[in-house]
Amino acid sequence: VKKITTLTLTKMKANGEKISMLTAYDYSFAHIIDGAGIDVILVGDSASNVMAGHETTLPITLDHMIYHASSVIRGINRCLVVVDLPFGSYQSNSQIALASAIRIMKETGAHAVKLEGGEEVLDSIKSIVSAGVPVMGHLGLTPQSIYKFGTYNVRAKEQEEASKLKKDALLLQQAGCFAIVLEKIPAQLAKEVSESLSIPTIGIGAGKYCDGQVLVMHDMLGINNTFKPRFLRQYLNLHEQVTTAVQQYVTDVKSKDFPNDKEQY
Ligand code: KIV
Ligand code: NA
Repeated sequence: VKKITTLTLTKMKANGEKISMLTAYDYSFAHIIDGAGIDVILVGDSASNVMAGHETTLPITLDHMIYHASSVIRGINRCLVVVDLPFGSYQSNSQIALASAIRIMKETGAHAVKLEGGEEVLDSIKSIVSAGVPVMGHLGLTPQSIYKFGTYNVRAKEQEEASKLKKDALLLQQAGCFAIVLEKIPAQLAKEVSESLSIPTIGIGAGKYCDGQVLVMHDMLGINNTFKPRFLRQYLNLHEQVTTAVQQYVTDVKSKDFPNDKEQY
């Protein structure tokens, strides 16, 4: 199999081929998603929400991320695997950031890390990149800063925040990021940013002009069927399908239909 690398993604942008990315947090789903032909799996800190049930991404730890990432790595053989640096593992200084990135690379076998923010985290990005670890940036709605924003609404609708985002995107590219996630910003702004960069942008709620798209797997499969933002295309209603299957199983056990003669030894 031809493995996807960060270089593959740069070439895809140059050739106008869109990049597909989904989150995964465990071996079994990673295996399915990789086999289905995804380009990139993100072991997102959204695991804090969809795997652990927390309200925000803040509580998840580096040890938790390493557990999820090493499980994902055992499930794939083709896609690029990017792992989120969790809140608290890179903001304070670049040495701590580098130590966190090195733990992820050593203990999981993942191919790259992602972290949130622009100018504020530039030193951290530079020292991780200097160590030979590919870094994906993340601008716009950065959920680790939810208590600064106060809401999960669209970011950078005003000129000031939009200008900072454009500047940050260029700084991230200069610092050596191989790609940047743009989350929940106006499509027109994402278009301008994407056109200004040679590295690919990967959007979530950032419109059709990004060089790639990412969704949280649990959302696009309809596992959580109450989360329905405008940007989400839901490809399955797994909440409903799993409910029906479990109800049928309960009925079959209660009615003594399961197991039958052929399903026992
Ligand atoms: O953690 C995550 O799932 C993410 C994506 C939404 C980009 O960072
Ligand atoms: Na994330």
